[in-house]
Order: sequence, then structure tokens, then C-alpha cells
Amino acid sequence: MAKLSATKPISVLLQEAEHVGEHTLKRVLGPFHLVMLGIGAIIGAGIFVLTGQAAAQHAGPAVALSFVVAGVTCALTALCYAEFASLIPIAGSAYTYGYATLGELVAWIIGWDLVLEYAFAAGTVASGWSGYFVSLLDDFHIHIPPQLTATYGNAMYLYQGHWVLRSALPTGVDVSALPHAMGIFNLVAFLAVLAMTAVLIVGIEESAKFNTAIVAIKLSVVGIFLVIGAGFLLQHPHLAAANWHPFIPPAQGPGRFGLGGITAGAASIFFAYIGFDAVSTAAQEAKNPRRDMPIGILGSLVVCTVLYILVALVLTGLVSYHSLDVADPVAVGIDATGVRWGSILVKLGAVFGLGTAMLVMLLGQSRIFLSMSRDGLIWKWASKIHPRFRTPYVSNLVVGIAVAFMPALLPIDRLSELVNMGTLLAFAIVCAGVWILRRKHPDMPRPFKTPLVPLVPILGILSAFYLIWVLPLLTKEIVVLWLLVGLVIYFTYSVKHSAVQKALRND
Ligand code: ALA
Repeated sequence: MAKLSATKPISVLLQEAEHVGEHTLKRVLGPFHLVMLGIGAIIGAGIFVLTGQAAAQHAGPAVALSFVVAGVTCALTALCYAEFASLIPIAGSAYTYGYATLGELVAWIIGWDLVLEYAFAAGTVASGWSGYFVSLLDDFHIHIPPQLTATYGNAMYLYQGHWVLRSALPTGVDVSALPHAMGIFNLVAFLAVLAMTAVLIVGIEESAKFNTAIVAIKLSVVGIFLVIGAGFLLQHPHLAAANWHPFIPPAQGPGRFGLGGITAGAASIFFAYIGFDAVSTAAQEAKNPRRDMPIGILGSLVVCTVLYILVALVLTGLVSYHSLDVADPVAVGIDATGVRWGSILVKLGAVFGLGTAMLVMLLGQSRIFLSMSRDGLIWKWASKIHPRFRTPYVSNLVVGIAVAFMPALLPIDRLSELVNMGTLLAFAIVCAGVWILRRKHPDMPRPFKTPLVPLVPILGILSAFYLIWVLPLLTKEIVVLWLLVGLVIYFTYSVKHSAVQKALRND
């Protein structure tokens, strides 16, 4: 009989960490690098794409407040993550923390949830990437057939020389008078995921320098947008006053504007914050993980929260929120300032920045699969390492192909909502974990302590569930289905093959 609450001893985890560490991972990362690593994973399609949709569909200019709500939810969880990451400073994630503390079944659920988080997030980012890439090519008069740039059944209209979705057309435009085409398959996003998968298989040099350079590009693009945009608004205060009024548009139904729209917006842009947890995967490369993990996790979150709120304010000041439901809202925002090179720069920055965000998400996914497979919880092929590239190539290939179909067939808002729900569930479990562990093992050395336990974990859990609650029903149904599939795999495969269970049986 399997013991579902069996935990993986921390001593075993630390041994495994040492084993990997002596061959491949060097302890080179300090607090600055860890913060940069976090920012590199966090800034992506969320701020570059979903901000516009959330403003247009849910919150109007008050999308800035949606960022505050989602940021607070993340901060509560980040405080809990920080305690775990300093307590168990090994390259894992919530899955590893869960296995060490809450038992195998809970670890499985977190791991399966994280697969949803990272795989679907990679797909979501690919979808955002394709929007900016197609728009950039358009600027250079290279036009990809619209049928291959949108998902099935989504109509594209030719307006002012660009193929755009209906939601991107200004109000009052007579769509019947515009040439249009039906989306079939987003080939651009599909190929983008396959390209990144190939990079992963060949093996990327996970160099902190490379990451820092890319993060610098992303931060510069966001910074340039803020400087140009805010400068323009200071010179044209009437524009900002008109676009920000009313700051919270009157409610038009559940989740559409009004106060409910702010929380619905928070649930949809929550995606923008995902990634601070990825800092924990670098624990074995940190010089002083017990001290620096919390700095990396919390520091990157704080920097991104401030940037996001500013971007949301400037964007909705520059352009009426009605016009932001486009594939490249930040470029549309900078266009409004008349700075022509700004738009190209933003698109280029997004193409590079989202490309690496995709890579980080696919990498995160492969690491989770690798850990779960080595623990015997999923199939062995997922940890098969390529003899020359030393990467889990089978897993990368299988997952890469599956992920590539996601943005090709599903629109970005659907995908991101699935990621949000999966991640919010994992976050709630992490919060609960910190609290449970404090009760079960109050004396373990905790270099970083989540403040006000159990208040902070409880608020973290409640806010996560609140945001889950405001997500669309279909999203919840799909995630529940995903979890049920996971449980079937767990009970039919994992309990028989789990290394921890085998060790228990042999005792
Ligand atoms: N936070 C990351 C993004 O917005 C996942 O793309």
C-alpha cells in the first residue's frame, strides 16, 4: 500500500544536489545576478501583451490597480517561497519543497501544476512573441498570410495596411467594408516554440552574463517606453486627463469594468508576475543561497511591480484603453507619441525579450519533468540525457512539440488564464506548506522567516483562491480536468515506480 504522505528526506535532496553540483554547477551568482535572473523570467508577454487586453476588456485605466492587486498576491506567496528557498536551498522548485515537507501526493499535484504553469506559459509567451514579430515584419513590408498568424476561427481584418483582430479595430469602423481572412493556425508561434526547443536540446549556456545582457535589453525597452511616454504626457496633460477619465470605467457586467473589473483584470494579468519563483531553480548556482535566495525572489518581484504599475499608467494615458486590445499594445502606445523609432525599438526588444522568456519557461518545464522522472513519479524517458549535448532531449522534444500546438490553436487570453489558475493553485499550496512546516518542524534553521505566520500564508491562500474564483468557468474546468488526468497517472504509474515508495517497501 503506497504511503501518499511519504516525504523525500532533506538529507537525500542535499546529497543529490551535491552530486549534480560538483560536475556542472558553479556557485557564482550573487544577489544582483539573482535579482536579474528573476526579472529575466518575469518580464514577458504579460506586460507586453496582456496589459492591453486587460485594460480594454476588464479594468480600463484602473489596470494599474489590477497590477497592485496581483502584485500583493504575489508578494504574499513570494515571502513564503523565500522561506522555503532559504530552508531547502537546492535547485528545485515548489515541487521539491513539497516533496520534502508535505508528502508525495501533494508534491505530485504541485509538480503536475507546475508543468501546466511552465508549458502553457511558454505557449502563451510564444503567442505574444508572434504578435510582435508579425508586426515588426509588417513594418519592413514583409507580410505573412494572416491565416497563419492567428488561431483557428479568429477573423483578421486588413486595416491601414495591417492585418489586425476585430478587437483591435477602432469603434465605428465598418468591418463589412474591410478585406478579411480567417485564422487557421498560428504557424509563427508554432515555429517559434520549435526553434526554442531546438536551442534547449543543443544546450544553452546558462550564463549569468548572457541573461544579464538580455535583461538589460528588456529593462531598457521598458525604461525607454516610460521615459518617452511620460515625457509626452507631461507635455500633453490634457491627453492623459482625457484617457484616464473615468479612471475606473462604470461596470458593464461581471468582470467588465467597475471594481469587479479590477480584480478580473488582476486575475488575467497575474501572468505578468509569473517567474519570480524561477529564481529558486538557481539555488545551486548561488554563492550564498540561504541569504541571497530571498533577495533574488523578493527583489525581482518588487522591481517588476513598480515597473508594471508605471507602464500601465503611461500606456493608458497615451492611448484610450478601448484601442489597446491589440497584439502589440506597448508599440501602439509609443506610436501615439509620434516617436517613430520608438515603435521599432519596442518591437525588437519584445522579440528578444519574449524569446528568452519562452526559453526560460521551457527550461523550467524540463527541469520539473527531470526531477519528477528521476524520483520515479513520471516515465523514465523524461530524464533520458543526450550523450553529447547532456540535455534531457526526449523530454524537450515531446514537450516542445506539445507546447508548440498550444499557441497555434488557442488564443493568448485562454492560454494565460490556464497558466494563471495552475500557478495560483501551486502558490496556495506553497503558502500552506510554510505554515504546516512551521507547526511540524518549528526548530528547523530558517535563515529567512516569512513574517507574521500564519497571517501571511493565510492571506496568500485566500488571495490566490479569490483570483481563481474570478477566472472564467471554462478555465477552471480545464484545470480540474488536468489535475484529474494527473491523479490517474499518479495512481496508475507513480505509486508503483516512486523511488521513495520503493525505499519504504524495502525498509
Ligand atoms: N511573467 C512572464 C511573462 O509575462 C511569464 O511572460
